[in-house]
Amino acid sequence: MTMTQTDTPRYRDRTTLNHRIPTIFFALLLLGNIACADANTGLNGNQETPGGSFNLGSTASASDIAAWDLDMDPSGSGAPIGSGSVSEGKQTYDLKCASCHGVDGGGTSLGDQLVGREPLEGFPFGQVRGQYRRTVGNYWPYATTLFDYIIRAMPMNAPGSLTVDEVYAASAYILYMNDIIDENAVMDTESLPKVVMPARDRFVMDNRTGGPEIR
Ligand code: HEC
Repeated sequence: MTMTQTDTPRYRDRTTLNHRIPTIFFALLLLGNIACADANTGLNGNQETPGGSFNLGSTASASDIAAWDLDMDPSGSGAPIGSGSVSEGKQTYDLKCASCHGVDGGGTSLGDQLVGREPLEGFPFGQVRGQYRRTVGNYWPYATTLFDYIIRAMPMNAPGSLTVDEVYAASAYILYMNDIIDENAVMDTESLPKVVMPARDRFVMDNRTGGPEIR
């Protein structure tokens, strides 16, 4: 092939460009793929091989999961089997709770007030924040929530250390101190969900559908 001096550069330019277009295109594709691959590792990779992607942690065993799977809903569904009386609850409470919540449940600088039924009418603390103490007796709508909270969060300095029976008992004693159950009552899987809390009708079910409406 014979080329003139003027043809050569043009020819070369075109050749170079023709080679470069696919190269650049391929490089861009590759970059895109790498980005996608990263996203996949972050999202799907973790889900498919739990704990495996980053070689961190270990797979939770059935007993690990059981230790955390404690949630009890208002109907009592999920309640662990056990029971505790008011008098047993007094022993647990005096030993493990009173130092922060006060012997009579009146609260200290270390822990909230748990006992108090006033005001019995009007529910003014719904509007006036800070003026009244919200307690188990005047604010909590379900006794099951009390159990659920105590078993996972209390005592504050050793959460998870109570036995199921101790939690039923401590719940019983706190309900008794709030004049909600009588002193011979025993709280268990059956009786705890049946306790009607004084503040039960102060709340409505939140059945909004996710829209902007507020009630
Ligand atoms: C070391 C202090 C301490 C001990 C001991 C302790 N608590 Fe608490 N408790 C707290 C604190 C602080 C809070 C508030 C936590 C918060 O609001 O996040 C609290 C909150 C609570 C609440 C919720 C009060 C509310 O109306 O929001 C309950 C119920 C409760 N504790 C029960 C118990 C029981 C039962 C025990 C004993 C088994 C116990 N606590 C032992 C410090 C303590």
